[in-house]
Amino acid sequence: GGGIVVVGVETSCDDTGVGVLRVRQRSCRAAKKTGVGIEAEVLANVVSSQFEIHREYGGIVPRLAARAHEANLPLVVEQALEQAKLSWKEVDAIAVTTGPGLSPCLWAGIRAAEDYAAQHAVPVVAVNHLEGHALIPRLFEDSPAAFPFLTLIASGGHTLLVHVNGVRDYTLVAQSLDDAIGECFDKVARVMGCDGSVSGHPGKEVERLAAQGNPEAIPFRVPLTRSHNVRSCDFSFSGLKSAVRRYVGQRNAEPLSAAEMADVAAGFQHAALTHLENSTRRALVFSGCRMEPAHLEKVDVSMRRKYNKDVARMPDEPLSARPPRSLVVSGGVASNAALRQRLERLANCFGIPLHVPPPRLCTDNGVMIAWAGAELVAAGPGRTLADLRSHADTL
Ligand code: KG4
Ligand code: ZN
Repeated sequence: GGGIVVVGVETSCDDTGVGVLRVRQRSCRAAKKTGVGIEAEVLANVVSSQFEIHREYGGIVPRLAARAHEANLPLVVEQALEQAKLSWKEVDAIAVTTGPGLSPCLWAGIRAAEDYAAQHAVPVVAVNHLEGHALIPRLFEDSPAAFPFLTLIASGGHTLLVHVNGVRDYTLVAQSLDDAIGECFDKVARVMGCDGSVSGHPGKEVERLAAQGNPEAIPFRVPLTRSHNVRSCDFSFSGLKSAVRRYVGQRNAEPLSAAEMADVAAGFQHAALTHLENSTRRALVFSGCRMEPAHLEKVDVSMRRKYNKDVARMPDEPLSARPPRSLVVSGGVASNAALRQRLERLANCFGIPLHVPPPRLCTDNGVMIAWAGAELVAAGPGRTLADLRSHADTL
């Protein structure tokens, strides 16, 4: 009992996600200590994947996806409430993703949320999908991420670095100039003939293969390392994707052996992750993070050289007024263990912690939308969480 019950609905892409949270205001002392004003208990997190529906098309078909959301939503909502052991009577608000995403899919979620809201007389809070990814690291009781932090959002749809200074106070530091990292993992998986049917995620299969290969056997070029590129923190993955496609295509006459396949995966993953790490390091430096001199002596030569170059290229104004207090990585690709290891080491060098939300909250889900909705309301001018009960507008 107690607190505010928020249901989050996420349908921006191909997953139907419904999460249920019980949200409470933290005590003054706890809020000060953690830097986060509210806390929440995850009562349910149900995600229904449409993976099987779209697999044969090799991509997501928006109209099919929207229809599947419409069919799934009532079941997923019912299942989530059952998991939470709650009825609609106990629900105080609905948060729903209103963008960015595939519009027919978004509308399926918005219409459903509005129907439920009307039926049960609860308010609807509009949430930006990326805000969900950006704020979810603040949910964790043991180590919630206090503002400001730098977050790398690495998913099938986005590759972004966002400086999160506060609720509704974000600076977009970098984005992909072409494909998203997860999309690139998926395409590479396809080229190599793994479709994700083993694990449910093609990217995960590339990671599994890569762990068995030699990352130096096929040296794919790390993207955007030419000198005129290194003032920006942006990403690009289409060149790397094409390079892998070319390499595998050239060998079409004689199919790759399992060992060669593993080397392709390892070489690709090495280049892709080095690129992510380069941009993240630069973004930390450009937003004012520094390595302690004593620490700098201990890091390996290549990291030290790259760090020193970034410091030399620092823009006149830092990207943010306050340097980040932690680094966060989220999105589907954050479940890649090799990426986490690299970022852990990187954050360590700067003397800040790395936060990685658990995988089930990193991939698209309704919990992050419920949480972001609660944060938006809690941070609103003169609003407390209790206002969720009476506030009936889209925020
Ligand atoms: O956040 P997410 O579930 O969905 C959206 O992008 O909307 O991210 C899914 C992406 C897919 O491209 C998937 O292949 C990738 O995350 N992914 C991975 C791994 N697990 C999932 N990529 C690399 N390594 C992994 N272990
Ligand atoms: Zn997402």
